[in-house]
Amino acid sequence: MIFQLSCEGITPVIAHPERNAQIIAEPQRLYKFVDDGGLAQVTATSLVGAFGEQVQRTAKEFVKCGLVQVVASDAHTLKNRGFAMTKAYQVLNEMDSRYPERFATNARNLLNGDKIKARRIEVPRKQRKHWLS
Ligand SMILES: [Fe+2]
Repeated sequence: MIFQLSCEGITPVIAHPERNAQIIAEPQRLYKFVDDGGLAQVTATSLVGAFGEQVQRTAKEFVKCGLVQVVASDAHTLKNRGFAMTKAYQVLNEMDSRYPERFATNARNLLNGDKIKARRIEVPRKQRKHWLS
């Protein structure tokens, strides 16, 4: 499917893989998706921990592994979800001071239909479930 889309000039972007049960269980699925040419966006509130520790750990692991290229508000249900973009960029900066600019550039390129610079990607570690989170 990714190949067919790319032949038509379309790059699929998977939303919030850090909250996808199948990807959490088998994170190599996301690796394969990105390796095949797909992109992924992490939700800002996931990065700041609003969906719990496991989702936050998964989100950070995907960032570290280069498997998410943009951060987005995902604020499509405004009653229950706020914007956490500023905080999310702070988290990115705490992880690596190069991340905020990289993610902002990627978002701009995505919106403009420009190519997103390929980066080295790594297979993420599977996150363990914690009983208290
Ligand atoms: Fe969403």
